[in-house]
Amino acid sequence: MKLVRKAVFPVAGLGTRFLPATKAMPKEMLPVVDRPLIQHVVDEARQAGIEHFIFVTGRNKAVIEDHFDRQVELEMTLLERQKQKALDRLRYDLPEPGTTSFTRQQEPLGLGHAVWCARELIGREPFALLLPDVLVQHERGCLAQMIDAAREAGERANIVAVEEVPRERVDQYGVVGVGAAKGKMFSITSMVEKPAQERAPSNLILTGRYILQPEILDLLATQDRGAGGEIQLTDAMIALARTQPFYGLKFDGRSFDCGSKVGFLAANVSYALARPDIAPGFRTEIKKILAELNGG
Ligand code: G1P
Repeated sequence: MKLVRKAVFPVAGLGTRFLPATKAMPKEMLPVVDRPLIQHVVDEARQAGIEHFIFVTGRNKAVIEDHFDRQVELEMTLLERQKQKALDRLRYDLPEPGTTSFTRQQEPLGLGHAVWCARELIGREPFALLLPDVLVQHERGCLAQMIDAAREAGERANIVAVEEVPRERVDQYGVVGVGAAKGKMFSITSMVEKPAQERAPSNLILTGRYILQPEILDLLATQDRGAGGEIQLTDAMIALARTQPFYGLKFDGRSFDCGSKVGFLAANVSYALARPDIAPGFRTEIKKILAELNGG
């Protein structure tokens, strides 16, 4: 039996930071090189062996559902034009029939609320949660690394991916307190959502990848509003940590916060430079731009 079979992708956010690009298009469909953000994150989940993909959507997000469906006309056209490689790629990218589910978060009440909206689809089993704003670039994806580590943690363990940020940025994230080492992981002693710098227990932040036990859903069901008037996942995790183990994993790889413009642009540069078909030409262009800027 697999440790984690299902993954939840909260994709209901409005994407106001990317207006006007996100006026008529979900932010999750913004491309990093030639793949939408959400496709990169689904790729990560597939690599980790996830079998069921649960999307918590909102109004104006129907195109995400279309993206994970077949497009028969397009396939016919590619076939007629003998574009076999493109056709194979499209087919490869598509999850198996019956392995995607879509539900709606009817009001923007926070990340905790979005996860709770998926409760019927999750059922009573551990699940992964991947925030599509964050990309982690590494040969072995972040979730796969967490599942590898989870084998050491035993059943009923919750695992979160963490990374270091400069102290002055901790107030933008969930922050964890560091306890005893457990293999590649460490016990989490505390968690706090978007703390002021002086209240942060460390400079290790929650990256946006979680493996959670289903009891989190019971806690989310009864939860009060937290930071920013939202139902915070972090608050429910704090409550769950009183009865279940919580571990942090410092993953290998570089993360990009694609919820910010700079992070999104950096992801595009880094992913393009990692692509053998694009890197040589792209590198030349970047060098030219930088040289011109520097007056050279
Ligand atoms: C959310 C979580 C936060 C986490 C962050 C990662 O915050 O609440 O704990 O560190 O994602 O990107 P948001 O970015 O939705 O404000």
